[in-house]
Amino acid sequence: MCGIVAYFGKKAAQPILLEGLKRLEYRGYDSAGVALMAGNTFEQHKTSGRIANLEEVLPAVNAAQTIGIGHTRWATHGEPNTTNSHPHTDATGKITLVHNGIIENYATLKKWLLKEGCTFQSETDTEVLANLIGYFYTQEQDKDGTACEHFERAVQKALNEIYGTYGLAIMCADCPDMMIGVKKGSPLILGVGENEFVLASDASAIVEHTTRAVYMSDGEMVIIHADGFTTKTITNKEVSKELKDIEFSLDQIELEGFEHYMQKEIAEQPEALHTCLNGRIDLKNGRVILGGIQNLLRDLTRTKRIIMTACGTAWHAALVGEFLFEQLARIPAEVEYASEFRYRNPIVEEGTVVIAISQSGETADTLAAIEQAKERGATVLGVVNAVGSTIARLTDAGVYLRVGPEIGVASTKAFTAQVSVLAMLAVELGRRRHLSADAAQTILTELAKIPQKVESILAQQEHIKAIAQANIHKDNWLFLGRGFNYPVALEGALKLKEISYIHAEGLPAAEMKHGPIALITDDMPAVFVATQCSQYEKVIGNIEEVRARGGKTIVVATEGDDHIAPYADYLITVPDTIEQLQPLLTVVPLQMLAYHAAVLRGHDVDKPRNLAKSVTVE
Ligand code: AGP
Repeated sequence: MCGIVAYFGKKAAQPILLEGLKRLEYRGYDSAGVALMAGNTFEQHKTSGRIANLEEVLPAVNAAQTIGIGHTRWATHGEPNTTNSHPHTDATGKITLVHNGIIENYATLKKWLLKEGCTFQSETDTEVLANLIGYFYTQEQDKDGTACEHFERAVQKALNEIYGTYGLAIMCADCPDMMIGVKKGSPLILGVGENEFVLASDASAIVEHTTRAVYMSDGEMVIIHADGFTTKTITNKEVSKELKDIEFSLDQIELEGFEHYMQKEIAEQPEALHTCLNGRIDLKNGRVILGGIQNLLRDLTRTKRIIMTACGTAWHAALVGEFLFEQLARIPAEVEYASEFRYRNPIVEEGTVVIAISQSGETADTLAAIEQAKERGATVLGVVNAVGSTIARLTDAGVYLRVGPEIGVASTKAFTAQVSVLAMLAVELGRRRHLSADAAQTILTELAKIPQKVESILAQQEHIKAIAQANIHKDNWLFLGRGFNYPVALEGALKLKEISYIHAEGLPAAEMKHGPIALITDDMPAVFVATQCSQYEKVIGNIEEVRARGGKTIVVATEGDDHIAPYADYLITVPDTIEQLQPLLTVVPLQMLAYHAAVLRGHDVDKPRNLAKSVTVE
């Protein structure tokens, strides 16, 4: 998704903007640009392609330019080229801005502005917004007041004509000591330093300057001046915002010696899961303490149905959650793709609880699904990683993953943390219904051991890399599992396809005979999750079906299973654990397999083509 960084302070803005944009590269982009202000003029520089291309066209740093805005663009309207990249300036040349989001009624506005004599350079919706602000700014100048008052009012007037989403940083040539940030539907955070401010799409571009931040809410604008900032709504109502601490440090963001963020985040899982679980498990009483939802546990305990809504990897974690809620708490549960739920006019009965799961907390479809659920009176919980994100603030309550920033586009530690949180929640709800203390203690004891069990899997790096090497020239893979490992098969397939670009499909293993088995050849690796569980024998039968047709099998099995070897062309083992928690272990070899396949195929693992870390557009 697009990334925004803006600087307002005493230092030269250019290097700060570039560094900030590099921290946002993981969001996915196809062009980049900056606008730098000194006195009453701003310079604009932008290029298609990577930030390195932008650096090539930038002039020497001008220390007088201490205010600026920067942008990495992920094209939604207009192809990825220099003209369409941000910042965009209005026809009068007074207003310049960067934008993350979509102006849905841009075509109508553009037609009207053209009739009013505005000219356009690009095909983008963003330039329409720039011109709309410029149009109102010109009108305001005939009225009493300062240029800054005119600028602020012009922004408000323009935004009240807009349908869509935006995170914005805006400058006006007549107001060199002022910058405006606005948020609606796309993330925007204001970092507050010593006589300096950094506006950004997420905290990773802020933390090296300050760890104090204001998390903007939808419909709010921040007006930044040399002596401070004020916050108000776009309908001009004063808003007081509290300063919060940003909860992760820069070194958590740095690669720390790993080759890729994804590799780092796979390796971080033991520590991340320990942090996620820490202080939340009461082994003695077989209970779980999730502070963020204490006030809703009664509703949750009585609920007749849980609907989980998410996208991608988070959806796979939710599917594990469905089985956990049904097995441990005996609560009917279902999982809905957010993009489907939001448009289906879903039935949400009285007392239904909706759980939105999202690592970034900014996924547009999931946000829209939450709106739908709230309109239908549901209690909505969030299971989110990004602190202060839009979903975290939109939901009635929630549980943070607490695993630190996940930078790699392919989600890894967030998946295992989401499943861990859902497991804890299912145990606590079960304990408030039918689950015995003994049963809960067994589950929680096993859960507490998961971090070190993951550690032992990570030690198989070279072995898993060799399996990837032997299969990276196969263009189609199947991933198969049953029960709690069926969602793991889906997740393994997604991991492989999104970073290695190998086509992969995940299936319930029993589904093979209903069609996909027609695909089996020795050129299509079949990855089976065949750990010892209630359906183990059935999975062995599925493996035999594949091998009988010449298929090659990559099998994830339980350590010490000496029955499985004859069924595996390639064997990876994981420590044993109870069936309900096996996804936390069986997913790790599949993450590693995908990672090595992508590296061996020479792809940009952290920024795979066409993908973004947070899909903040529909
Ligand atoms: C997962 O590896 C993908 N990057 C993608 O499917 C992701 O899980 C999905 O876009 C949801 O993102 P979220 O958890 O931030 O809402």
